[in-house]
Amino acid sequence: MALPMIIQGGMGIGVSDWRLARAVSLQGELGVVSGTGINCVFIRRLQLGDVGGHVRRALAHFVDHTTVEKILKTYFVEGGIDDVTHFKLSSVAQVHAPIALQRLNVVAGFVEVFLAKEAHNGLVGINLLEKLQTSNLPTLYGAMLAGVDAVLIGAGVPREMPGVIELFTNHDDASVKANLTCADATSDVKITFRPRAVFPGLDLPRLKSPLFFPIISSLTLAQHLVQRSTGKVDGFVVEGALAGGHNAPPRGQLKLSERGEPIYGVKDQADLTGIRELGLPFWLAGSYGSPDRLNEALSLGANGIQVGTAFAFCDESGITKSLRQRVIRSWTGLDSLVAEPVFTDPLASPTGFPFKVVKLPDTLSEKPIYEARPRKCDLGYLRQILVGGDGKLVYRCPAEPVEDFVRKGGKVEDTVDRKCLCNALLANIGLGQRQDDGYHEQPLLTSGDDLLHLRQFVAPGADHYSAKDVLGHLKSALTEVHIP
Ligand SMILES: Cc1cc2nc3c(=O)[nH]c(=O)nc-3n(C[C@H](O)[C@H](O)[C@H](O)COP(=O)(O)O)c2cc1C
Repeated sequence: MALPMIIQGGMGIGVSDWRLARAVSLQGELGVVSGTGINCVFIRRLQLGDVGGHVRRALAHFVDHTTVEKILKTYFVEGGIDDVTHFKLSSVAQVHAPIALQRLNVVAGFVEVFLAKEAHNGLVGINLLEKLQTSNLPTLYGAMLAGVDAVLIGAGVPREMPGVIELFTNHDDASVKANLTCADATSDVKITFRPRAVFPGLDLPRLKSPLFFPIISSLTLAQHLVQRSTGKVDGFVVEGALAGGHNAPPRGQLKLSERGEPIYGVKDQADLTGIRELGLPFWLAGSYGSPDRLNEALSLGANGIQVGTAFAFCDESGITKSLRQRVIRSWTGLDSLVAEPVFTDPLASPTGFPFKVVKLPDTLSEKPIYEARPRKCDLGYLRQILVGGDGKLVYRCPAEPVEDFVRKGGKVEDTVDRKCLCNALLANIGLGQRQDDGYHEQPLLTSGDDLLHLRQFVAPGADHYSAKDVLGHLKSALTEVHIP
């Protein structure tokens, strides 16, 4: 398989959806759908009436028609629900997930990849967050049923995933060890997915094995994964702290700048010489979204770059048109400029990882809007997993109601300024929950520092641009030696 020069970074929830990945893939580069929270995106699209019929078109190709019928019966609403009705929820992500939830995760992964790959031969990958272990296995299996070409996993140490991929090619059972909070050495909780038990009686051909590209920020992690993975690593995305979304925390004791952002130093820059010496393909990410930076990456021995921010605000992105336009108009000079719009927030994410937040009026980045949100945890993708005193599993999220978190052994100080990313990120893509108490979930945008350079993709006077514009511009100054 010819490797791409540009990877469109996976962006959750639903920012890099099938439309964006498909647009990039059609241009000959690697389009990546996000698998994060994809089951919720999927069932909310169905509840909005599946505009355009895309979801149902993909479902018609799924191997198990009984499962499809059950899902449609449960979630599809002809014509769509109105804009005040509460979205029906699936069961919450958990270690021992009910079979209906496992099937839903498989189908959601399948649909997203099927649509991104439909009717062309371009490459499509899926991005999974190691932190969302409880739904990753079925989502990955669904993506493989749709013929996904690459699996990219960040925010953790996905050492066991190559082995899982190999087992799924033959529809065999696979497990990963759950990352437990406050675990002692004896705790060993496994998350398992059994394809044949979940879809009994199906006679399926062997599946294609996708390439596996972990997203890493240090040579040490790259070496660890090469040496200790349960299977083959095919390359790396090497991501620095300027990238959008979650960032790896700085090494050592956390120190904050005057602005309150984590301070990164030389030690936090990946040793590219060492990474080159591993002899595997790699792509650089984190403010590499410009023609000069692409040339720089290539001259450093990388196969190319992974870009997120530039694609997050293009026409095919899942972010709502109004939010995209507000951002583009502000930072391309059409509307007034906000100083320092991107803030690396050390507290916002329940994961504890720094999370880049766009300071945009009328979103949760503004304190009064954040404080007006009744704390609630109804999606639970980022919940920590613990083993309680009675040996039973306990789930808690630092962004849930404080009293609940404390009752489950959490500390009050860990709840301060935490934001419910699950609900906010769904609001970014127009799928925000209309809570029963009347509260409508509000957006919270994330972006890399490259937000300040969106102007390079936008024609003078325009307030939008396409994925093709991004790719054309990025490759516009390739030196002859690098032109494929
Ligand atoms: C809106 C947005 C959401 C993102 N979500 C994810 C994600 O879910 N998983 C992930 O591995 N990376 C995520 N990223 C990181 C991108 O995949 C990509 O690596 C990064 O944006 C590259 O740096 P850049 O933003 O400077 O182009 C996200 C980035 C953005 C801008």
